[in-house]
Amino acid sequence: MRIVNIVGARPNFMKMAPLLREMRRHPEIAATLVHTGQHYDDRMAGQFFRDLDLAHPDISLDVGSGSHAYQTAEVMKRLEPVLERIRPHVVVVVGDVNSTLAGAVTAAKLCIPVAHVEAGLRSFDRAMPEEINRLLTDAISEYLFVTEESGRENLLREGVDSRKIHLVGNVMIDSLEQCRPVWERSDVVTRLGLAQGDYGVVTLHRPSNVDDPAILRGLVKALAEIGRRLPLVFPVHPRTRSRLEAMDIGSEWGRANARWVEPLGYLDFVGLVARSRLVLTDSGGLQEETTALGIPCLTLREQTERPITVTQGTNRIVGTSPDRIVSEATRVLAEPRLQVARPPLWDGRAADRIVAILRGAPPADAERTDVADAG
Ligand code: UD1
Repeated sequence: MRIVNIVGARPNFMKMAPLLREMRRHPEIAATLVHTGQHYDDRMAGQFFRDLDLAHPDISLDVGSGSHAYQTAEVMKRLEPVLERIRPHVVVVVGDVNSTLAGAVTAAKLCIPVAHVEAGLRSFDRAMPEEINRLLTDAISEYLFVTEESGRENLLREGVDSRKIHLVGNVMIDSLEQCRPVWERSDVVTRLGLAQGDYGVVTLHRPSNVDDPAILRGLVKALAEIGRRLPLVFPVHPRTRSRLEAMDIGSEWGRANARWVEPLGYLDFVGLVARSRLVLTDSGGLQEETTALGIPCLTLREQTERPITVTQGTNRIVGTSPDRIVSEATRVLAEPRLQVARPPLWDGRAADRIVAILRGAPPADAERTDVADAG
């Protein structure tokens, strides 16, 4: 069974690592890893391959940065001959980045079945590029592997055949658990001069937050205010760094106990988050990781496509108004640490379930929608 697996950007790598590991345990699967090159800097890509022990890509498409259309089109152009040559039985795409959509469209047009891992999530905000990628990828996928119940409901509402939908858990949490012994040993907290349990972690990279100077300025103001009470560390995404450097906000940061650092690798980053008091972010994956780790998370957006992190996890959606962000952070800091249960099937075994289904041997605990709905 030939399977082509596609990765492109930072959050794809931790989703793919457990899948590839599981595929390679089965001799009848010939798994090929294609890296589109959407992310190419060592700190955005290479470091993640090393941290996750992810095999060197079999094929690199080297597309690099560009507009959405450019990036998507370049992946499609360069991937098509690869798929024509390998003629896989299935193409696996993960998450919601431009490489996900490009991989799915290229495969579907060659009549190769697409498996989408992390299907069904919806922010209902079509101004987010990821929402367009999610909608279109799901519409042309044959296997829709969902992480939470909302994903199944969204797909059913959109008319997807229930036999294609499988609630399997979360491969991001597989990586978190498989790497736990290593990230628990990370010395990142002392290296950054922080005290365990007494600092906050910030990440920002959504275009809606960082491309609008008025919003970014408000976020910086709120973070500077919070930084007076709790030291903050901010691994800055390249997109955000270029926007911050273009704005004259050095003095605002200068007064605050909020430090910018270069983007961290996976193991250092999870090690940092796991020992923090609070996370402030606009990332999707981090809402899930903080839920699994029991770390309070304030999401600096107006909505989330991962509602289970709010209903069963540690996440609060607080928007981008500086006053609200500061008051919510103040509230979290006054509260005792939360004890939360993990969402169903976020147990580190999602990749086993997915590969079993792709092999045509569903494990007993993977929930098939048609079976679940029959009653
Ligand atoms: C992409 C994904 C987003 C994901 C994020 C994680 C899409 C539409 N967006 O956003 O869903 O959450 O990755 O980081 O696919 N750059 C570098 N080095 C790199 C890669 C990018 O410096 O290795 C800079 C370039 O200036 C580039 C910019 O970052 O133009 C944006 O990169 P891009 O891949 O277009 O989008 P992200 O903002 O990273």
